[in-house]
Amino acid sequence: VAGYCHARQSWSDEYLAGDWERLHSLEELGRYSILAGYVRHLGPRLKILDVGCGNGAMMEELRPSGHTYVGCDLALPAVRRALATATESDMFVIAQAQQLPFRPGAFDAVICSEVLSYLPDVPVAVDAMVAVLARDGHLLVSLFDAFDRPESDCWKHVLSATNVVDMVTLTRLGGNNSTGHRGDTTRPVTWRIALLTPRRSSA
Ligand SMILES: C[S@@+](CC[C@H](N)C(=O)[O-])C[C@H]1O[C@@H](n2cnc3c(N)ncnc32)[C@H](O)[C@@H]1O
Repeated sequence: VAGYCHARQSWSDEYLAGDWERLHSLEELGRYSILAGYVRHLGPRLKILDVGCGNGAMMEELRPSGHTYVGCDLALPAVRRALATATESDMFVIAQAQQLPFRPGAFDAVICSEVLSYLPDVPVAVDAMVAVLARDGHLLVSLFDAFDRPESDCWKHVLSATNVVDMVTLTRLGGNNSTGHRGDTTRPVTWRIALLTPRRSSA
């Protein structure tokens, strides 16, 4: 996984350089729409934690909403950008996905969108997210099909801790205006997106 685990400083530098403004572009809209659809399916007035929330694109897609939204990211410049379009009720925390500073069972839904591929210790992060879910809570995961770290590697860890409620594959074909992923303007990009429930021990 070398080269895939950004340090906090590189994330911050990339956000400051504007590299991740593309998260607000049309090319990313499909996956946010599917995640927002899953949230809509779950119901109104949820307590939602967005782990690795980035610069606010998912938060914006959840509007209008009566949800309580908490974004968590390790990169302060990302959160500053998210704050620019946040409402008074949105909250943000600077924290690591692997050590979430919330009480057990605090959230109805945890969104983890395009984050796990970048982490060195995926099982630790998945456990941390499951721990902050309410008993009937849901985990929502999106992962793009990375060629240098097979998505199946991350999914293996996710699926060992959860049961699938629904899972879709989204493929975006190239477009004239595409910024592409990792510099490639023509390659189709595929994401797998899932709505999951944690496996609980019966004890
Ligand atoms: C590709 S961006 C995705 C952002 C957002 N979830 C979205 O879908 O638009 C990955 C995000 O994960 C954050 N991140 C990376 N490692 C993290 C960690 N260990 N804990 C929390 N956030 C992390 C980065 O700062 C970045 O904002």
